[in-house]
Amino acid sequence: MLSQLLLLFTAVLLCCGNCAFATTVDWWESATLYQIYPRSFMDSDGDGVGDLNGITSRLEYLKEIGVTATWLSPIFESPMADMGYDVSNFTNIDPLFGTMEDFDVMIAKAHKLGLKIILDFVPNHSSDECEWFQKSIRREDGYDDFYMWEDGKIDSQTGERVPPSNWVSVFSGSMWTWNEQRQQYYLHQFLAKQPDLNFSNPMVREYMQAVLQFWVDRGVDGFRIDAVPHIGEKQYANGTYPDEPRSGWSDDPNSYNYHDHIYTKDQPLTLEVVYEWRKFFDEYKNQNGGDTIALIAEAYSSVDVLSDYINNGTHAGTQIPMNFNLMSLDSHSTARNVEQLTKVWMDTIWERHHSANWVLGNHDNDRLATRMSQRKVYLMTMLVHALPGTSVTYYGEEIGMSNVDTECTEVSCEDRDPERTPMQWTNSAHAGFTTGPTTWLPVSSDYEVINVATERGVARSTLQIFKGMTKLKQTPAFKAFKDDNGFSFGAVSEQVFQVVRTAVKREEYRILINMGNSIEYLYGLANQTMEYVLLSPYSPHSYGEKVDLSQRIYLMPFEAVVLYSSAESS
Ligand code: GLC
Ligand code: MG
Repeated sequence: MLSQLLLLFTAVLLCCGNCAFATTVDWWESATLYQIYPRSFMDSDGDGVGDLNGITSRLEYLKEIGVTATWLSPIFESPMADMGYDVSNFTNIDPLFGTMEDFDVMIAKAHKLGLKIILDFVPNHSSDECEWFQKSIRREDGYDDFYMWEDGKIDSQTGERVPPSNWVSVFSGSMWTWNEQRQQYYLHQFLAKQPDLNFSNPMVREYMQAVLQFWVDRGVDGFRIDAVPHIGEKQYANGTYPDEPRSGWSDDPNSYNYHDHIYTKDQPLTLEVVYEWRKFFDEYKNQNGGDTIALIAEAYSSVDVLSDYINNGTHAGTQIPMNFNLMSLDSHSTARNVEQLTKVWMDTIWERHHSANWVLGNHDNDRLATRMSQRKVYLMTMLVHALPGTSVTYYGEEIGMSNVDTECTEVSCEDRDPERTPMQWTNSAHAGFTTGPTTWLPVSSDYEVINVATERGVARSTLQIFKGMTKLKQTPAFKAFKDDNGFSFGAVSEQVFQVVRTAVKREEYRILINMGNSIEYLYGLANQTMEYVLLSPYSPHSYGEKVDLSQRIYLMPFEAVVLYSSAESS
């Protein structure tokens, strides 16, 4: 504590006078986050499914491309009904992915390389095969109310038993499933094989905190908390559950969109537990030292709700509620659309918390190249790394991987498979993902062109642009962004988006992104001459070339550039 105070004091002294933009940031605030889907990243044992040793063997790659921290989708024991998001043992590694020793080796190596490991924490539900649920079915001591059980109602017309409420699960159909053995309904916001834990039960909260403690003791640097909005549900004191009103967005009563989820999303109880977890980690850090443990929340909620998940004025919660706004961009989107979407975040979250993050994709949504077209991947790569705050990249997006037409197999048959196919490492068999004869999902047919090895050798490949941008993210101009003067951004024409990042001593970067397919002319952007330091594939310019921004400049279709100037050079 004393040393921290001293540091702060020295920083203030050194900065007097000329440090307007020198506010330092914590590691997660300007991090380059990278999501690994373990099944598909790298296979070490030839069974066609990715594993921990595979990840360990590719940690140098993460370092090479400038990743700060990597978030792993679930690696815990699971029957894989929802590919690991149905956990049957929260403190065990699934044998498919390896052993606890493999995990320890992975984390030790990551830390040696200066990489942080973030685990997926799935608190809302367990697998129905979890021992806790089995005990709860049998009403074993202490486990009776571990999940959400209810008798249901008797329909006055038919005399039949019906679920306690009209709630529809995220994956469609009733949120309630009848259990023959216990003779009651249980609640599941997702699959019937994913019963919701009962967070109004203190024992559940204790158990889940023990899970967090287990992993943080093993050296984990943070958690991505799964399905946060779904943790709590509204229940009246007499034990009944209120029906949800219709939303008007769907005519299908089995669709999740049929209702307005006023009783099953973002409930007060949910905020309470998120604050509890944060308090636990703050105390943990006070006792054990070390870096801040980052809590990343997966919440498809409004910015006002996300703001409360960060801090409601009294309690602190997640540092990074994922910002999915940019995922709504498509192939027709313009710079103005980007501006509108960034504004939604900045006007509320930045205003209130001086915090920002930008997500372009994940394992639940179509790949960026598929949503926006292949040639726009590097434009978006430049955008999310140019904007102030944390960038979040889904594996394979750094090389421009696309969705793959997958067919149902015995292993998996679901509509999210296309964005979960094996990482494309090389142009040899199975894209270098496995040495075995098959892969759990097919490798994309474009792997001979779109792969890490090939793109490493191409000067302006998507991968090289990614690397160039993550390098910039390490510079003072990109790191010192807490001061509102440290950056500005917006559309400078219908199709051109501009980001300006400024550091002490007037070091400045200017990123210009032309999202359209025609030449764009810009007049009098600034009163200075700058130098081209990063160029996209469609740029006719060369590195080191100067441009006078007080004059007319142009950008070719889909051209994106980074310009640089310092007080000395201008
Ligand atoms: C989250 C995960 C998704 C999973 C769901 C249920 O939304 O990202 O993959 O199916 O939670 O756990
Ligand atoms: Mg729940």
